[in-house]
Parts: sequence; structure tokens; C-alpha cells
Amino acid sequence: MDWNPEQKSRLFYQTRQRRPLLDRAEGVYLWDVNGKRYLDAASGAMVSNIGHSNPRVIEAMRRQMERSTFGYRLHFENEPAERLAATIASLSPPGHEKVFFVSGGSEAVESCLKLARQYTIAAGQGERWRVISRSPSYHGSTLGALALTGYQPLTAPFTPMLREMPKIPSPRCYLDRDDLSEDERGLYYAELLRQKIIELGPETVLAFIMEPVGGASTGALVAPDVYYGRISEICDEFGVLLIYDEVMSGVGRTGKFLAAEHWNIAPDIVALAKGFGAGYAALGAMIAHDDIVNAVLDSGGFQHGHTYAGNPLACAAGLAVVQEIIENDLMAHTEQVGAQLKAELEKLMSRYPFIGDVRGKGLLLAFETVADRRTMEPLPPEWMVYHKLVEYAYERGLIIYSRRTRDGIAGDHFMICPPMITTVDQLGEILEPLKASLDELAAELNLPVSRSVP
Ligand SMILES: Cc1ncc(COP(=O)(O)O)c(C=O)c1O
Repeated sequence: MDWNPEQKSRLFYQTRQRRPLLDRAEGVYLWDVNGKRYLDAASGAMVSNIGHSNPRVIEAMRRQMERSTFGYRLHFENEPAERLAATIASLSPPGHEKVFFVSGGSEAVESCLKLARQYTIAAGQGERWRVISRSPSYHGSTLGALALTGYQPLTAPFTPMLREMPKIPSPRCYLDRDDLSEDERGLYYAELLRQKIIELGPETVLAFIMEPVGGASTGALVAPDVYYGRISEICDEFGVLLIYDEVMSGVGRTGKFLAAEHWNIAPDIVALAKGFGAGYAALGAMIAHDDIVNAVLDSGGFQHGHTYAGNPLACAAGLAVVQEIIENDLMAHTEQVGAQLKAELEKLMSRYPFIGDVRGKGLLLAFETVADRRTMEPLPPEWMVYHKLVEYAYERGLIIYSRRTRDGIAGDHFMICPPMITTVDQLGEILEPLKASLDELAAELNLPVSRSVP
């Protein structure tokens, strides 16, 4: 059937908004069919970590396609899956020897829930089923992962269908107006977990899940350093499994293979996706400690799986992605370029008083706009700042990613997460159109700008 780009689209996603047709992509750039170039400063949705059209990945996929694209996991083992599992296990905390492949982040989180649950059943603690999570947070769109998610617009329509899980506040210390030190705040937020476990009855609590560096729901939220260790201690104290959702933060985006490494944490189970397949293949994984997996397998098997799990084509792509990151030392590069980009974003605060906070780690960075930096009161939600700035940047060929930072209802934050291959020279190509877009926003909404600061 004939098709041309002008006609009505039969596709639908969240809204009716249409975008130009993609022509090609290379490195940090994409081009539409009209020849306009875009710098992908959001790596899609924090996915294209090694940039587009990487020759090593394309060649690895081509070679694998010529051998086999699918071999069902119950019928065959395959070399790319075995090699990829061994590689990511070697990059994970000691004892985390077992890998379960999936096709994306929501599937990875669902798998973590089910493994945790089956482990406690195997351990004779079947009364444990509650999974505590944080709010705001995002753990995926499937109903199990959504039950853990704290982001009102996404969860509200489905509330009657969800077995909603208990939440504690995310450690958004930048909003707190108190006299506590950074450490005291970190301990305060960790203590909320302890209190919640006690309130629910520790014998009913299965796990605690958190994004070590926040994603789109919080805008790259980083907790005070003490928070991470204290959360681990609390989980240990009550026999609660600690799950790190590293779907966005994992595979190098924060400058380490797992963000957990920044604080020397060994979570019991980890979820990966996004930058793992890096836009080349639908790929995710759950990495778990040997003891957990062995207990489940010994008790009769893991009652869970997805058809495409561990398919050789996706795993060949994932293996080439991880090799590319390691051999080009992209994690160290990410730490360095990310620090420079963050410093540049912080400098923007002098020119734009309506930028209230800049946060994140490596190239998982974000800034938040506010009406008043002292009170951190958000800009009026009806101004739709989170939408407008993205569109102004898009017109200038710069792709950034935004969400509403206050539980999805108000507030505006913007993720600045270019691929890990972004060079220091390319930072100007992000910052200049970003400044022009912020100027346009300020002019339209009559927001203050310090003209004396470039
Ligand atoms: C932290 C986190 N977990 C889970 C998911 C869900 O991943 P997917 O969209 O691949 O299902 C996302 C996606 O944004 C995420 O950021």
C-alpha cells in the first residue's frame, strides 16, 4: 500500500503531536527528511548512550543476523547471550553472577519483583510481599512496575487496577527549607524507610526499590552520600531485599557501570535497560546475587519469562555496546564531560534566576525552573514551561527532555543527557541553543534575565 509522509498517521502514542520524519542518525546527531540536523542532548529518552550508527555495533549485528536472529531460550543457548552475561556480571558487585535478559526497563523491573518474591517464598517467608518504593519515581509502564511508580498522571487512571505499593518520599533535599546539614537530611530521608517498614510490619516487607540517580520523574535526583549506605543497612536489618532500578542510570551513564558504585553499594538485584541496548536493540537485564537465584532455581525454578529474552541479535548488539564503552574508556570520559556540562549549567543560574536547581551525575543531568529560588515555588503549571522550552529548543535543532517535577502535576525540569561520546567541543552546540531557548522563554513569560551575565 502506498504511503507518503503528508498523509494522516495511523500511529498513535501519547498525543496527536506530529514530528518530522527521521532520515538518518550518526554520532550525537539526527537528521529529518528535510535535511534539518538535531543534536540529541537527551539521547532519545536517555537511551542512545554511545550515539547513533556506531560501526562496531552495526557490524556485530550484521554478523549475528547472518548466523541467526532468534533461537528460543528453551531450545538453544547462544554465544552472544553467554558472553554478554559474563561481561556484565564481571562489571557488577562480587557475587552478582546471575543475569536474566529481557527486552526493556519495565520488563526488567517486573522481573526483579518476581525474583524477589520467589526468593522469599523459597526462604520460607511467603508472608513478605510488600515492595516499598519512593515518590516521585518511575519504574515502568506495566501494571506491576506502575504500582511502584510515584508519578500521579501516569498512575491515576489505573489506581483501581493496581495493587498499590507503599511509598516513602524521595530525598528531594533541594526543596527542604530547614537547618539540617546535608548528612542529617540524608539520614532523615533514610529513616523514613525504617519507619515505613516498622509501620507495615517487617515480616510483610519484601523489598525496597529505588533509582540511585533519579530519572525523568525527579530530574536526575541525587541523594546525600550518607543516604545510600544507611538505606542498605536498614534493608539488611529487616531482611528486606534492596533493588536498584538502574534502567536509566546503569551501563555507564553516570560515569560508572552501575551508579551503585559511586557509593560502594551492592544491591541484591539490579534492573538495566535503556543504554544497555543503546537504541540498537530492545534489551534489558536483571542482575542478581548468586544466592538469590540459586535458592529460586533449587526450589523448582523461576516462574517468569518473556519470549524475546536473550535473543542472539539483541545480545550481540548489547555486547558490542558494552565493549565500545569499555574499550573507549567512555565511563571516564562521561565523568569528565559530565562534570564540565554540569558546571556550565550551573553558570546559567546567574543569567536565569528562574533556574532553581541543577543536579545529576555524569551525563545524567537536569535543571529545574522555579518562580522563586528562595522558596523553590514552581512556575504556574498552566504556563506549560516544561513543554514550551522543549519546543523552543527543538526548533533550534536541540533535543532535550522534560517532565513535571512535583509529582507530575506542577514544576518543570529538563534532562540534559547527551550521549556518552559527546566531546567537550560539542558542549557549546548544546549550551548556545539552550540559552537562546531560555531567552525566548523568558521573553514570552516575562521572566527575569540578568543581561549583564553572558
Ligand atoms: C528508572 C526507570 N525504570 C524503568 C523504566 C521503564 O523502562 P521501559 O520504558 O524500557 O519499559 C524507565 C523508563 O524511563 C526508567 O527510567
